[in-house]
Formats: sequence, C-alpha cells, structure tokens
Amino acid sequence: MNILLLGSGGREHALAWKLNQSVWTNPLFIAPGNAGTSQCGINVNLDLNNFESIGKFCIEKKIEMVVVGPEEPLVKGLCDFFKTTPGLEKIYFIGPSKEGAQLEGSKAFAKAFMQRHNIPTAAYREFTSENYEEGVKYLQSHSLPIVLKADGLAAGKGVVICQNHVEAIAEFELMIQQAKFGDASKKVVVEEFLKGIEVSVFVLTDGKHYVILPEAKDYKRIGEGDKGLNTGGMGAVSPVPFADFRFMQKVEDRIIKPTINGLYEDNIDYKGFVFIGIINVDDEPFVIEYNCRLGDPETEVILPRLENDLIGLFVSVCNQELDTMKISIDPRTAITIVTVSRGYPTVYEKGYPIYGLTNKIPDDSLIFHAGTSVSEGKVVTNGGRVLAITSFAETVYEAVEKSRDVLEHIDYDGIYYRRDIGYEFL
Ligand code: AMP
Ligand code: GLY
Repeated sequence: MNILLLGSGGREHALAWKLNQSVWTNPLFIAPGNAGTSQCGINVNLDLNNFESIGKFCIEKKIEMVVVGPEEPLVKGLCDFFKTTPGLEKIYFIGPSKEGAQLEGSKAFAKAFMQRHNIPTAAYREFTSENYEEGVKYLQSHSLPIVLKADGLAAGKGVVICQNHVEAIAEFELMIQQAKFGDASKKVVVEEFLKGIEVSVFVLTDGKHYVILPEAKDYKRIGEGDKGLNTGGMGAVSPVPFADFRFMQKVEDRIIKPTINGLYEDNIDYKGFVFIGIINVDDEPFVIEYNCRLGDPETEVILPRLENDLIGLFVSVCNQELDTMKISIDPRTAITIVTVSRGYPTVYEKGYPIYGLTNKIPDDSLIFHAGTSVSEGKVVTNGGRVLAITSFAETVYEAVEKSRDVLEHIDYDGIYYRRDIGYEFL
C-alpha cells in the first residue's frame, strides 16, 4: 500500500518507524519528514498548508492512505478536502474532519461537547468582546487560581494560569482586546482550576468503535523538577503507574465511551486519534483538553509498546470495523528523553552536526529524530527539540538509565536534556 505520512517531528519519526514495520507498507512517503524519517521511507518536500499540492502528489504517486501527524492541517480541513475532491475521496485518510478537529481547534467547542455529553471537566464560561464587561465581573469573583484559555490554536501557549485577580483581568484584556494570540484569543474560556496529576490517554476511533492505546505522562517544563518554561515536551513515560486498572476503568466509562458515542450522535466524521489530556483529582478523572492527533513525545513511548500492525488498525478504522481488532501491548515500561537545542524553548540555534548517531545501541533502545535534517551528507540539528531517545525496561529507573547511557555517546553543540524523566515514579 502506498502511504503518505504528513509531519516532521519525533512523533512522525515514530509513526514512520512503526508504519515501516508493516508488511503492507510499500512505499512510505513522509512530507516533509526529517533525517530520521528518511531511514524509514522517502522524504518529500510538500507544504502542509498547500492542500492542492498534497492532493496532486497523492494522485501522481497513487497514494492509498494518508496519515496526518500534526493538528494544523486537520483543523484547517485537510480531511474534508480529500473527501470532496474527485480522485482523492477514496484514499484512506487517518485524521478527523474539520468539525471533529474542533475538539482541539476550539476550546469552547470542546467544552460545549463535554457539557452536552456529560463528560467530567472543569466548570467554565466563555467570553468575547461582546460580553467583555461581564467577563471582568465574573473574573473578579472567581476562585483562585483562574485558568484562561484562548479558544483557538495558539501553538501550545494559549493557556494561562493566573494566581490573582489583577493578573487574570490583565491577561483577559490582553487576550480579547489586544489579540495576544491573534484570532485564537478573540474568544476566551475561563475555567476552574483543577489540582491533580496529569495523564495523556490515547484512543484510536473509526467514529463508532474505539481501541485504547497505552497511556503516557509527559514532562512539559524545560528544567529538572518541573521548573522553568513550558516546552512541547521534554520526555515521557508509559505506562503511568497511578493510571491503574481501576482508574482507567473510570476513564473508559466516564470519558472515552461518552466521547466516542458523542461524536457518533452528533454526526461528526472522526476517523483517527483522540488524545485526551486527563487530570486525576483525588482518584477521579477530569478532561483538561482534547487533541485530534497523537502527542509528541508521547508517541515515542506508546507506539514502541504497541504490538499490533499499525496499517491493519488503520484499514479497520477506515472501514469502520475497529470492533474486530484487539490491541496488544508490550507490558514493559518505555521512557523517552528529548534532547533540545541551546536556548529552547525561546530563541535557539540550529545547523550543528550531531555526533554519535551511528554508534551501536542496545536492542531495547531507539533513537527518534525530531528537529534534524541532512546537510552536506551530515545529520545536523534543525529545531528546538532534536532527538528522542526511547528505552524499554522492567522499571522506569532502568529504562531511564538505558537512555542516559545512549546519550553519553551522542553530542552536538548546545545539547541539553532532562536527567530526571520519570522522577516521581522511581
Ligand atoms: P491545555 O493546552 O488545555 O492542555 O493546557 C495546558 C496545561 O495547562 C495543561 O496541560 C495543564 O497542565 C494546565 N491546565 C489546563 N487547564 C487546567 C485546569 N482547568 N486546571 C489546572 N490546570 C490546567
Ligand atoms: N506533549 C503534548 C502534546 O503533544 O500536545
């Protein structure tokens, strides 16, 4: 089957690595990909915002399946473009419709969806310039801290947690009146703060049935001990020790089932991944957010644990036969450590040669590329997040030791990574 995978991060290298193991894959194209994906297939230089050129490529290369890594093309309607363009409509497409992608693309849409389907989440109100004054009054009497969320996509920066009312009102003004996040913050969701520990749950759905993939916990802060600025993710662990059978049963009954049934009842076309950010408040799960894609770096631990053939799963998603599939998961622990460029997550440099990538590594470790490219025959850094080193072991401690051992022999100018991934589970 001719496959086109869209994206260029660590998530996409993990997807490409997994797709490439399938007997069905032949050939795999990745657009635009990175130096790592070029070891799993053929990188092609397509602009993910140019739907026409993606469609033209699919026709030229007789692509039979498209798999979308990042959210942006989905939120902009790439799935709908395929479903309504002659010659593309029969291509298997993994990723939700524009309406389905609103679960991630609009916080207000997601909140209304959860309310409609009785899915546990923080209490909220939404405001725009129309009811701005009412919003200010609402904030003045809100309990602290206050969570403000830009409605639209804001590159992971649209959520601000305010510790006092003055700060909350100032931030509210910046978002709505000063367009801090552009159109994304024309509407703002004001939400009750939930205190607890987070877990990312991943579901693959055909719009009617679902399978649950391994859960994961990611580490968002740049510094050890979860200090410093937020990043895209500095590492991940799967399974998550507190997400035991009892807790996951609550998640399935109260969150996953009503989410999938809700999509079906609302007639929302959704064939793809649902990433549910969950917070455990005194052993009760609440939804913090939905994403319409896999997480990064969570994918670098969940796909290595998944024993099923990914193409087989995807074909049954497209034929709406996911109920015939059974998920098989490696019981060992997988962790990943992300290396970044000096300066990340603010201004960083790139273009430095990466040394040590061809060293022999243990069988139960994997090197995934994120921001890398090939320049003059050498692999060089090409982004804020550069590599994700995944290892398997019986315990979190041993798995982290293995990835750190691999990292002892990898170097580039300005390399930095957290040494404490999984610290609370050691
Ligand atoms: P989001 O972009 O919705 O994932 O939010 C980013 C981060 O903000 C989440 O991963 C949480 O750590 C935090 N967060 C979001 N909503 C809440 C909430 N209602 N209570 C506490 N923390 C939250
Ligand atoms: N690691 C969080 C995300 O992919 O959104």
